[in-house]
Amino acid sequence: MSSISKHRTHPSAARRALRHGLLGLALLGAGTLAANAADTTTLGEQVAKSSDCLSCHAVGHKVVGPAFDAVAAKYAGKPGAKQMLMNAVKNGHVGTWGQIPMPPHPQLSHKQLDEVISWVLSLKPAHAGQAAATSSKTYSYEVGGKKVLLDFPVFLAGSKEKVTPTVFRGYELWNSYCFRCHGVDATGSEYAPDLRKSVLNGMTEGRMTDIAMTGIKAKGMPSWAGFFDPGQLHDIYQYVAARAYRLVGEGTPQQ
Ligand code: HEC
Ligand code: HEC
Repeated sequence: MSSISKHRTHPSAARRALRHGLLGLALLGAGTLAANAADTTTLGEQVAKSSDCLSCHAVGHKVVGPAFDAVAAKYAGKPGAKQMLMNAVKNGHVGTWGQIPMPPHPQLSHKQLDEVISWVLSLKPAHAGQAAATSSKTYSYEVGGKKVLLDFPVFLAGSKEKVTPTVFRGYELWNSYCFRCHGVDATGSEYAPDLRKSVLNGMTEGRMTDIAMTGIKAKGMPSWAGFFDPGQLHDIYQYVAARAYRLVGEGTPQQ
């Protein structure tokens, strides 16, 4: 399952490149011990990327599950933590960080679990600013004489018709993956709820991401963990919200 979009440049890619550079220097001085330690964390990060972890987790902020640096901080210096967390990922877990369950990962080998948890536990707290990166900027639009206030732009600056690349990607993703149950152009269908109504009833992006990554299998809503990263749910949410507030009509939006 490596279908998580690669077209987004993960900030971690830059960090990884940096670490490789530093590793070169460390090798000159410190010999193979340092190299082995760094290799383990790099392998663990690869497991996280090639499995579904990064659909639900980020290093420095909460997504569906806790921030990985918060996990590292919580269990720092606790004996037995590594084995306990390996079991939690393998068998699934709920209740320590909230009421959303983490699914089991029976497909991961003992070695992969060891590598990915070693990487998680090695993480230092990410920059505080990263978590609070959400802006408080608002965007005001008028629809049918009514004012709509959003915390993201639907249209390009200076345009009343051309949507942002984010909204357009959301439109494309929606009509590739969500439409077959939730209706073309988010119009709803007999198979699944009208998500425009969910948004108008207060469903936030975070809530939509929780549901989409976790799935509601008993009711026929698939889990998209391992398929989408949270950035793609971000795009889909903005498209659905733009549809919900009637800022974008049916059909292909103008870009
Ligand atoms: C569908 C979403 C989802 C996926 C996929 C997922 N997690 Fe989680 N993860 C969660 C949630 C939710 C929690 C919080 C569970 C709890 O409260 O006990 C969690 C908790 C954790 C914890 C802390 C467990 C504890 O007992 O404190 C670790 C470590 C972790 N996840 C690692 C991983 C790794 C590694 C992967 C990939 C192999 C992964 N997760 C995939 C949602 C997910
Ligand atoms: C195979 C059919 C199917 C597909 C495809 C599908 N869904 Fe669903 N979805 C459902 C069903 C059925 C429900 C209602 C589950 C229930 O009754 O609790 C649902 C519920 C939801 C909910 C909860 C709505 C609410 O108000 O509680 C969200 C959010 C959601 N889906 C998002 C998505 C997104 C985003 C996509 C595309 C990435 C998607 N779904 C694709 C079948 C599907």
